[in-house]
Amino acid sequence: MPFAKPVVLGNWKMNGLRADGIARVETLREHIRQASGQGTLGVCPPATLLTVLEQLLDNREILLGGQDCSSERQGAFTGDISADMLADAGCQLVIVGHSERRHGHGETDELVRAKAEAAVAAGLIPVLCIGETEAEWEDGETIQVLDGQLDGSLPENVTPDSLIIAYEPVWAIGTGRTPSTVDIARTHAHLRARLRELVPDGDQVRLLYGGSVKADNAREIMGVPEVDGVLVGGASLDAEQFWAIYTAGQAATT
Ligand code: PGA
Repeated sequence: MPFAKPVVLGNWKMNGLRADGIARVETLREHIRQASGQGTLGVCPPATLLTVLEQLLDNREILLGGQDCSSERQGAFTGDISADMLADAGCQLVIVGHSERRHGHGETDELVRAKAEAAVAAGLIPVLCIGETEAEWEDGETIQVLDGQLDGSLPENVTPDSLIIAYEPVWAIGTGRTPSTVDIARTHAHLRARLRELVPDGDQVRLLYGGSVKADNAREIMGVPEVDGVLVGGASLDAEQFWAIYTAGQAATT
């Protein structure tokens, strides 16, 4: 079964020491204990915090994810972390192809696909990120770029149970700017149509939006057709705001 909607994932990026991470997760657990309603909440902390947080999350009420993984299983790859290691540390998910990896570290579609395939082989769900740059957006190349990234980095033989897609315009990440809901709707409708062609039961693939999602725009964004949830960066560092995004998503999807 694909994850229950809304799927709200926090990408902490390179932020947070042990005490911050524990406090954030404790706050979220407190809210979950008192809440009802459907949905899927997950956090992707820095790798150094995975095993610490896994001990707080052993009943899986909040999913745990890595922010990246190697395409290799093991060996002489200094500084890299394999998908098996993430699974062993308690992760269920791993982000691959984030723009900070594609553009910041020169990762190609081919490498992103190999990482996503390594994740699937390790029993993890890849959260495959795609998104156009500002120049591509301005030149009207968004759909073309997304199609290329999807075709180039989607792993083979995936199903809606083994994959999450996140559309994140590069120009919206960390900038406070977002596409209009009309633009998000258009892009997600296109991606949904592509997923129907590329993945069996592609209607069921969880398709997230990411880029400057905050408590005050979350409901509107998650009310857009074909937006099954959000991938949240900066606002996920504030547990109260992250929880508000999640409840806004619940309100938008019911
Ligand atoms: P942001 O980041 O919410 O801070 O814009 C989103 C992301 O990078 O996933």
